[in-house]
Amino acid sequence: MSHVPVLLHEVLNIFEGSHLKVFFEGTVGAGGHAKAILEAHPEIEIYFACDRDPKALALAKTNLADFEKKIRFIYGPFADLESYLDEAGVSSMDGFLIDIGVSSMQFDEGERGFSFRMDAPLDMRMDPNSSLTAETIINEYPEEKLANLFYEYGEEFRSRAAARAIVEKRRKRRIRTTQELVEIVEPVLRRGKIHPATKIFQALRIAVNDELGQLKAGLKAAIHKLSLDGRLAVISFHSLEDRIVKFALKEAENLEIITKKPLTATREEIRKNPRSRSAKLRGAKKVSL
Ligand SMILES: C[S@@+](CC[C@H](N)C(=O)[O-])C[C@H]1O[C@@H](n2cnc3c(N)ncnc32)[C@H](O)[C@@H]1O
Repeated sequence: MSHVPVLLHEVLNIFEGSHLKVFFEGTVGAGGHAKAILEAHPEIEIYFACDRDPKALALAKTNLADFEKKIRFIYGPFADLESYLDEAGVSSMDGFLIDIGVSSMQFDEGERGFSFRMDAPLDMRMDPNSSLTAETIINEYPEEKLANLFYEYGEEFRSRAAARAIVEKRRKRRIRTTQELVEIVEPVLRRGKIHPATKIFQALRIAVNDELGQLKAGLKAAIHKLSLDGRLAVISFHSLEDRIVKFALKEAENLEIITKKPLTATREEIRKNPRSRSAKLRGAKKVSL
């Protein structure tokens, strides 16, 4: 299944009316947002299309072939955006977008270990060349560090019980697969509307990919590199991320918030693309340098 860009109209609205010469997208994925932005803004001269998943970049290259001349594909984390702009000899950008989190392609590729519904090695790396995997965290982090990770990144109230169950099990043998992990934690977690392992998997994914660190550093760099009147848009998928975005935008004295409240998907969009259910979009404009 290819990726359907979330909150597409809302994203386009944030950039509507602005003259975009240089655009930086930190999470190009399959290129859905990129295509729409490039179509809506023929004035764009350089479109930086960054992703740390080489498979996503390969797909984006195919999907965005019509715009090939304008696009610079970048393989790497978006938090390093200043160095990418410097390398290209570009001093500022007029638009910035990130749509963070795991893409539906990454979820659907069962062997990457993002989904608790498919048995796979405990990997969860967006960038297959990075060193930390979920298997390392599960088998090598001390019990307390594991519990804190589940609590902080998963907001899992049974974090200590889950960490204890994992540590007991791994004394006997290394835990290697998603289904082994599900079987270990399921009995100690509460049952509710969502699958009991949801928060544990979310926490692991965030830690493996340093998602919150990337978000904080990326926002800081983006605010710094935005030109006067430049706009930024951030789509996040859970409250931990949205909180970081909300405060980063609020605290920046040179930004004017465009979205008083975060924009969310319409019922119609949720019906067509259930993944949009938890998406929140915030936008801002640079009003002084
Ligand atoms: C939700 S998808 C983006 C989909 C895209 N907007 C589209 O329309 O097709 C998120 C993408 O961001 C990438 N990603 C997540 N965090 C990243 C980071 N810190 N740096 C670079 N890429 C990142 C993932 O590899 C994934 O391909």
